[in-house]
Amino acid sequence: MKLSSCLQIETSTDTEQAPIRVLLVDDDEDEYIITRRIIAEVEGRKHTLDWASSYEEGLAIIEEGRHDIYLIDYQLDEKNGLDLLREAISDGCTQPMILLTGQEDREVDIQAMKLGAWDYLVKGRIDASALERAIRYTLEHKKVVDVLLEVQKQREKFVATLTHDLKTPIKAEFRIFELLMQERFGPLTEDQQLVIHEMLRSNRFMYQMVDNLLTAFKFEEGQMVLRMETLDLNELVSDAISIDLSGLAQEKDQILTLSLQPGIPLIPADALEVKRVIYNLVQNAINFTPKKGKIKINTEFRDHKVFVSVEDTGPGIEEVIQKNLFAPYASMSKRYRHIGTGLGLYISKKIVEAHQGELTVDSRLGEGSRFTFTLPDQQSEKSRQVSL
Ligand SMILES: Nc1ncnc2c1ncn2[C@@H]1O[C@H](COP(=O)(O)OP(=O)(O)O)[C@@H](O)[C@H]1O
Ligand SMILES: [Mg+2]
Repeated sequence: MKLSSCLQIETSTDTEQAPIRVLLVDDDEDEYIITRRIIAEVEGRKHTLDWASSYEEGLAIIEEGRHDIYLIDYQLDEKNGLDLLREAISDGCTQPMILLTGQEDREVDIQAMKLGAWDYLVKGRIDASALERAIRYTLEHKKVVDVLLEVQKQREKFVATLTHDLKTPIKAEFRIFELLMQERFGPLTEDQQLVIHEMLRSNRFMYQMVDNLLTAFKFEEGQMVLRMETLDLNELVSDAISIDLSGLAQEKDQILTLSLQPGIPLIPADALEVKRVIYNLVQNAINFTPKKGKIKINTEFRDHKVFVSVEDTGPGIEEVIQKNLFAPYASMSKRYRHIGTGLGLYISKKIVEAHQGELTVDSRLGEGSRFTFTLPDQQSEKSRQVSL
């Protein structure tokens, strides 16, 4: 069954007949009177008009979400309509907004569009039918967008459920491969060991992809909860590497070195999630660095922060690509013939930022890459809470 087939765009129903609630945000009362007159002349479906006379009042009413559409004047006190547009959208407003200006100004028009305005109207040129048409088309457009968003949400939910359910059999397989490798079911020939080792590796890889997909979904849904403990970061780094990364590096004849600063204080963090970040960064370094390359993992403590960096002698990353590197699905896999979801760096950044840290990249084409993340110590965590 197609997901989209369960969703239909609502056409002429009772709700269509209900009046369209319009809010005008304009600091000039004369404009309100003119707009009210224009709206009264609109034929067909009824429109009601409310008025907010300032930026702050407009923002407060928009937050209440009582209107179907907002008409926002460009000139608003010291701030302007574009600021209001930006602030309302970042506060979560999804209802359409139309920007009004006194004069045609292409710059403002383009800026408004980029910020998320649904239309742009020049005041002196609007009559009842032009305004009615702009509102009608915008609301129709909004219905289509809502349906698409709903379809996307359902798809994401479907992928999340599927990946969650896939985890159990993958884990079970993993356990069986491990038992086989330990020769619990009888001795293995060298060839059999090689095959099982390969299966174990691809099983781990599959598990990690599924896990990354699920973590990305959790962040997007706001369901990510950190389980904070006080941790020894050096121990955590060694643990994360020892899982299977050192084996992977060995297979590529790469030199993997750890340079861990002694005496780093315990840091509040979620062990599993931080390990996931280290794993993702080191796995990328191994994947993208050619055979016999060098990978170095450093830890350092300064300015109330732990710095963990993963440095490689791989191909480096072009500057244009670096800009979008942390966006979801920013995988350049095809270029390097590597299979990946393109979610590793995205979720790593999310995890680090959830810890109030930072993840940055420093890379030069042909020379290599260095990914560094920071985690604040207990003291800066406390002072942050005090200042909140
Ligand atoms: N150490 C690295 N060296 C070169 N390119 C890298 C490195 N780490 C990441 N990249 C680039 O960033 C992209 C995104 O990485 P990531 O989010 O981990 O996704 P994936 O590994 O699934 O492709 C990679 O596909 C690759 O192009
Ligand atoms: Mg990756």
